[in-house]
Order: sequence, then structure tokens, then C-alpha cells
Amino acid sequence: MKKRFDEKAIVLENRRINDRYYKLVFSSAPLSRNIRPGQFLHIRINEGQDPYLRRPFSYFRTSPGKVEILYEVLGRGTLILAEKSKGDPLMVMGPLGNGFRTAIGKRKRVLVAGGIGVPPLVNLAEQFSSDYLLIGTKSKAEILPMAELKKVKAKVLCATEDGSVGFKGFVTGVLEKVIREEDSRQLFIQTCGPKSMMKAVMAIAAKNGIEGEASWDESMACGVGACLGCMVDTKTGLKRACADGPVFSFSELVP
Ligand SMILES: Cc1cc2nc3c(=O)[nH]c(=O)nc-3n(C[C@H](O)[C@H](O)[C@H](O)COP(=O)(O)OP(=O)(O)OC[C@H]3O[C@@H](n4cnc5c(N)ncnc54)[C@H](O)[C@@H]3O)c2cc1C
Ligand code: FES
Repeated sequence: MKKRFDEKAIVLENRRINDRYYKLVFSSAPLSRNIRPGQFLHIRINEGQDPYLRRPFSYFRTSPGKVEILYEVLGRGTLILAEKSKGDPLMVMGPLGNGFRTAIGKRKRVLVAGGIGVPPLVNLAEQFSSDYLLIGTKSKAEILPMAELKKVKAKVLCATEDGSVGFKGFVTGVLEKVIREEDSRQLFIQTCGPKSMMKAVMAIAAKNGIEGEASWDESMACGVGACLGCMVDTKTGLKRACADGPVFSFSELVP
């Protein structure tokens, strides 16, 4: 069994970096080692019972003794998280989940990210050479600042729904363009983001005979495979997103 830790981490930094994301940095030696992109952390937001359940967040970046996450404020948990300050303690469990495939042979890696799928795919593109990182947002103000993308080893192409930067429309439009320009048999797609986006990506991949995998992020309770609260429908039966995933191959997922 893979080793996991439940650590009292200390917040080093917590700030808003653009219209969409906050960045939280905390110190922890064990949680910063031997991480596969796509793995996640389960964070106890408060010491009390509110909110009762931990909240899952992907690894965004690690350095010795430090972990960074990027998060969007959506509900009560992330609202409270956004109020944490330097020096505050935080109980953090991890690393959890399987993570993305890193070895894909000679194929070209195409990463398709949206929303909460951006942090794990930037992490992957920083650590493993990728050909394309496609990012979809509503507008320019939501795209990560360049400083957060400068270590990415991939061509970054953005799509905005309002056309304020890059391709106007959904990120799947950019994916179709890449597929037209490349030899589709040589591509391998990895995606994370809203389910509607991932389903559209999988449909395009199926039409073009391209293999890939998706991080199927379900809401989670225990995060360690015990409560069966995060089940994903796969062709070989129900699987636990937290322990068997969150990354599943396109061929495994029920479209
Ligand atoms: C494996 C995994 C990795 C994740 N990584 C990140 C990350 O790196 N950055 C980030 O900002 N968020 C990430 N999330 C989502 C994050 O866990 C939720 O946004 C968070 O739990 C919301 O908590 P809350 O109390 O603020 O909102 P809640 O009150 O719990 O929910 C607010 C709204 O968000 C929706 N929501 C909650 N969880 C999810 C989910 N998993 N998928 C889609 N919608 C959801 C709810 O349905 C509701 O509409 C990840 C989730 C998973 C499962
Ligand atoms: S969250 Fe409990 S089994 Fe996945």
C-alpha cells in the first residue's frame, strides 16, 4: 500500500492570484515528496465540526518541504479556507489517489484543462514534457498569470468563451484544431475540469481514435476508499474515485 500521511501543516502563504484562483502554500516535508501529478490532498478546513467533511484539492506544485494548491472559492469550505493566514495550522492528508500516467511512449501529450482541472495539469506539464497544454476559461481575467505558467514544458494555447484572449469558444475547439494539424494516431490526451468539458473531450477522442485519460473528480467524504461515497461508473463496474482514481482511462469510463 502506498504510504500516506495526515500532517499538521502550517500555512506559509494564502492569497488571491486572479479573478478565479487563490493560491495556498503550506509547509510539510512528507506531503511534498514522491508525488505523481493528479494525486490530491484531503484538507480539514477547520479544527471544529464546520465544515464536517474534509475537502479534496489537487497538488499544484511541490518543492522540498513545501506544497502549493490552487483553489476556487465555491462554497462554505473554500470560503473559510480563503480566510487562512500565514502561521495557521491545517490538517492535511495525502498524497491520495492514483495520478496521471507519466510514461506514454513516443506519443505526443495533449493536456486539456478547465476550472479546477488547471492545477493538476499544470503540475503534469511542469514535471513531464508535454506537447500542448490547452486551457479553457470564460475570459482573460481567469487565465493563470504568466508567472504561474513559465515552468510549463508545453505549448500553452488558451480558449476564452468571450474571445478576450486566444481562441474564441470552448477549449474543445482548440483540441479539434490540434487534432487536424497533428497525426491523431500519435496523440495521447489527459484531461481534467468540468464533467461537461471532459465528456466533450472524450467524444472528440473517440471520434478520432485517440487514447487518453480523465481525472473524474467526484465530491468526496473519507477520501481513502472506505465510505463508497465517490463512486464512478466504469465499464468494469462501480469504482471509487478517491482510491481507484481519480484518473481513469477513456476506455474504462462509461461515456
Ligand atoms: C480529486 C479532486 C481534486 C480537486 N482539486 C481541486 C483543486 O485543485 N482546486 C479547486 O479549486 N478545487 C478542487 N477540487 C474541488 C474542490 O474539492 C471543491 O471545490 C470543494 O470541495 C468545494 O468545497 P466548498 O465547501 O467550498 O463547496 P461546497 O459547498 O461543498 O460546494 C460548492 C459547489 O461546488 C460543487 N462541488 C463541490 N465539489 C465538487 C467537485 N468535486 N466537482 C465539481 N463540483 C463540486 C458543489 O456541487 C456545489 O455546487 C477537487 C476535487 C476533487 C474530487
Ligand atoms: S470518498 Fe470515501 S470511498 Fe471515496
